Amino acid sequence: MRLAMVHSALNTSHVQFGNLGIPVPKKGSFPMTSLTEKNYRADSQSAVGKTVKGSAKHRKVIDITYRNNDESDYTEQIEALEQAFRYADYQHCYWTEPEQSLLYGTPLYEQATADQKRALNHLYWVIQNNNTAASEVNTIIYNQVTAGVFETLSGYDKLCDELTLETDQEYHHIHAFQKVGHRTRTALLGRKGFGWTGKDNKEAPTSRVSNWFARSQDTVLQFLAKHMLKPGEYLVSNYLKELEAQGKFAPTPTQGSGGRAASPTVLKFFTSNWGSSPFLACQYYAMRYVSNGLLKSQEHPRSRYFKKLEKAGEPIPIPTAISHYHFLDESFHTTISLIVGRDMYRDFAKPTVYERAIANWAVYLAQRNVICYHSGLSTGLPARCFRNDVSFMEFIYRLLQSPVFELSDQDARHWMEKSFCAEHEGFHVAKRYQKGFVTDFRQFFGQIDYLWPINREMRLIDVENTVDAGLRRSRAAFQEFSESVAV
Ligand SMILES: [Fe+2]
Ligand SMILES: [Fe+2]
Repeated sequence: MRLAMVHSALNTSHVQFGNLGIPVPKKGSFPMTSLTEKNYRADSQSAVGKTVKGSAKHRKVIDITYRNNDESDYTEQIEALEQAFRYADYQHCYWTEPEQSLLYGTPLYEQATADQKRALNHLYWVIQNNNTAASEVNTIIYNQVTAGVFETLSGYDKLCDELTLETDQEYHHIHAFQKVGHRTRTALLGRKGFGWTGKDNKEAPTSRVSNWFARSQDTVLQFLAKHMLKPGEYLVSNYLKELEAQGKFAPTPTQGSGGRAASPTVLKFFTSNWGSSPFLACQYYAMRYVSNGLLKSQEHPRSRYFKKLEKAGEPIPIPTAISHYHFLDESFHTTISLIVGRDMYRDFAKPTVYERAIANWAVYLAQRNVICYHSGLSTGLPARCFRNDVSFMEFIYRLLQSPVFELSDQDARHWMEKSFCAEHEGFHVAKRYQKGFVTDFRQFFGQIDYLWPINREMRLIDVENTVDAGLRRSRAAFQEFSESVAV
């Protein structure tokens, strides 16, 4: 049964779609170590020429991971698939299991036509991978910031090679996600997408007072880092030093996991710290593991879907295949985050009180702002890709009035109320996904000895993680949404 009854004029004055339009640092716009270059630069500060006797075990894992990653052809596969993608060729099939669809499990989903259900499946892929691309922009920046620290130490050449290889791979991944995303949304929603008030996703307007406050905060935080780190360790990263020589600083992400974790000023402070002492450079990888884990929770089921089709001898849609090969590429990156974030930091002197505080602050922010649960709508998608549930509802409101559904304003609100204010299967699916990465993160962070109990036990990530609590939050968000569209 088709939901659409009355066509509503589309408001195309605000052309927005999720977070599309992520600024990606241009290749070569910031210094990158070449894949074959082993540069232990003689101009670094306190860590110059130090040979650190690390655990042979984790060095071996890093060497093997680098070799396997370098020899694999998954990135090349992604590149070739991306070139061949045309939406019309894959619009009539699912790209993942139906449960990875916008609005899955809601009464609205149950009533949607087969075409609409597939569109919801495709848009979910697009939005979720748009967020993946944003998080990978973070990786491009921070791999270079921290590799700039590791290359000042003897014995970490393979790790630096791996980080450079990963950075190069991320550029290809981002390109593929953006290209498939752009072609899909254009085909489904028209060249201009659709109007979306996106009030909560807009940056807050900045006044002269708030600019002054941000600048002052920045000065204080940089002063703190400079004076609290051990002498000679501030901004030891060659990457940051090269940028500094050009009068620049590393770009500060505003989207993806990093952008969600902290304000730009606070994130810039973390960048300075992760680009300083070897301990803190390693600690960044505990943070990266959070991104890896969240992505894995979405991509592993897609990879299983790929294998299911392959086993059945059925044609595999290009987006499904891209997700599968990306999952395989990312498994190398996850291993590196695990080894560096969990084990390699032990190669260095025990953290100072300051370093411990910085590390714990970062993990606390990740718990609170990145691994958060929200209400659990659409398999937890809003918590990953939208600032909050109200932003997600505004997006759905526009989608229901777009060419995909063609609902009137009144019908759209009616279906949204039915879908967001009553218990349905979608909340249970979201809870299952959440449970998977809660277990993963508790296991990982539980092995890190410098963390305070609140972080080591990840106490904040499943507070009120129940279907009832999710429904309560969803109802409250819908109330707020309704009031915002009523004015
Ligand atoms: Fe990637
Ligand atoms: Fe990655």
